[in-house]
Amino acid sequence: MINLILLGLPGAGKGTASESIVDKYHLAHISTGDMFREAMANETPVGLEAKSYIDKGNLVPDEVTAKLVEERLKQPDTKNGFILDGFPRTTVQAELLEDITKRLDKPLTKVIAIDVDEDVLIKRLSARYICKNCGATYNKISNPTKVEGTCDRCGGHEFFQREDDKPEVVKNRLEVNKKMNTPLRDFYEEKGILSTVNGEQTPEKVFEDIDKILSKD
Ligand code: AP5
Ligand code: MG
Ligand code: ZN
Repeated sequence: MINLILLGLPGAGKGTASESIVDKYHLAHISTGDMFREAMANETPVGLEAKSYIDKGNLVPDEVTAKLVEERLKQPDTKNGFILDGFPRTTVQAELLEDITKRLDKPLTKVIAIDVDEDVLIKRLSARYICKNCGATYNKISNPTKVEGTCDRCGGHEFFQREDDKPEVVKNRLEVNKKMNTPLRDFYEEKGILSTVNGEQTPEKVFEDIDKILSKD
């Protein structure tokens, strides 16, 4: 059983790595960012609340986010394991998650931090683009579609840039997330379940390193 947290600053490659992990290990992929974007698109109460924070690159309040995660973890597809991508992001969320995993009897087994230098992240985020039809993520610099203008996964031709990937917002997102990065790592380091991978390698190599950690014991 793998109950995994992926830590990493915006653009570190959490979503990209999750896709490969899901392909091999069939875990439920729980991205709070993706869930908020879906809620915003559907204009649900949570979506409307989250929008005011996300559009500025700020964090959605801890309680709102934790509640969303708890509901998600109750879904039956998490019974064979899950990946938390983008949660927790503050030590308060990490504490809330302790309670949630106890209540649901789903103990964390691994925490993997993907390390990427800030300068690289700024470049990556401004070059990210996403398929409108299936949500596949690409990058103008490091990971373009095989055929220009055509999604590798679904053949779609329409792409978009995330609102919060605009340069003004990216700066604030990085600042906000950087503050909590070290305390969060320390939290899981102390529990003895933290591993680190170098996220400045190709996505294939990043996954290879993650796979080594996941396939141990
Ligand atoms: P969220 O959607 O989680 O955004 P994020 O953490 O800022 O992370 P990203 O999704 O931008 O990056 P990623 O690490 O997934 O990288 P990706 O694989 O796409 O959250 C959005 C917002 O929601 C937050 O700002 C906040 O407001 C709110 N929110 C979410 N969770 C919250 C929480 N817990 N508490 C409070 N608020 C919360 O890769 C990035 C790019 O790089 C892509 O173009 C990709 O193709 C490319 N790439 C990936 N890997 C590599 C590689 N190895 N080499 C080269 N390029 C690569
Ligand atoms: Mg992501
Ligand atoms: Zn597509």
